Amino acid sequence: ESTLGAAAAQSGRYFGVAVAANRLSDATYVSIAAREFNSVTAENEMKIDATQPQRGQFNFQAADRVYNWAVQNGKEVRGHTLAWHSQQPGWMQSLSGSALRQAMIDHINGVMSHYRGKITQWDVVNEAFADGSSGARRDSNLQRTGNDWIEAAFRAARAADPSAKLCYNDYNVEDWTWAKTQAMYAMVRDFKQRGVPIDCVGFQSHFNSGSPYNSNFRTTLQNFAALGVDVAVTELDIQGAPSSTYASVVNDCLAVSRCLGVTVWGVRDSDSWRSEHTPLLFYNDGSKKPAYTAVLNALNGG
Ligand code: G3I
Repeated sequence: ESTLGAAAAQSGRYFGVAVAANRLSDATYVSIAAREFNSVTAENEMKIDATQPQRGQFNFQAADRVYNWAVQNGKEVRGHTLAWHSQQPGWMQSLSGSALRQAMIDHINGVMSHYRGKITQWDVVNEAFADGSSGARRDSNLQRTGNDWIEAAFRAARAADPSAKLCYNDYNVEDWTWAKTQAMYAMVRDFKQRGVPIDCVGFQSHFNSGSPYNSNFRTTLQNFAALGVDVAVTELDIQGAPSSTYASVVNDCLAVSRCLGVTVWGVRDSDSWRSEHTPLLFYNDGSKKPAYTAVLNALNGG
């Protein structure tokens, strides 16, 4: 196959991209995104500050621009993200305790109802664990509502849209030896044992010199899959875009039957949140980088 999406589809997987609504008027961007990818994640437009800027007033304008573009171009959509310490609107930042807990649940209900039956996977909770060696939860206003906030979010999400796969999503959880990975593993195992509704784990995979790719990523994916959840690479970008590392990540996903697919976090280097790292698959002029060819070859089985 000659595009990333079609090549991934040969094994029943997708190859996705983060799309920003304000790029949809850029002809080069749109032609690459339409041609190469068969899954879309809204880079910012489905986040809390975008979808509920005032309490109780939902706004899906930008989110729907991304969603409609994706569907009109034949792509599936990953939802990102419902409960997160970051990109909260001001009104939510100032809440705490049971009022915040209720607001989180109302938010999940509001956004998931709007897209009920239309989203393949939702990142229900994003980035709830602390960096470093503690293995602890990240301190946040949501965490301070009680340690059960994550399972409360997943239970609300299941009720709001039973058709969506419900994912927990985080970064620096790709290396099996890291404390953060082990903490996330213990949470997922506990959720599966107690019947908390969780279907998938998203590994963001923002690799750089401080958090490098390690070949034990495949072990991580396999170990999570063995708990009875699907896994996905959800926000892939790699500092310098080395072809061999990109191919390794794709081959790790292909090696795990429960790995649903790979999403890269932007189209061209100039579209990246870390453009100085030149971490993506396309040059700023829209031409293909060596890493593109490495990914395509890996997806094609070679
Ligand atoms: O929308 C405003 C615009 O009105 C304003 O003029 C402009 C001035 O700075 O800022 C715009 O908002 C920016 C927004 O991106 C949209 O471009 C924010 O400042 C900026 O902080 C925001 O960055 C996003 C970041 O999440 C915020 O946390 C990045 O685009 C986005 O790629 C990044 O994505 C996250 C994932 O959601 C979760 N995992 C990590 C990943 C990378 O940080």
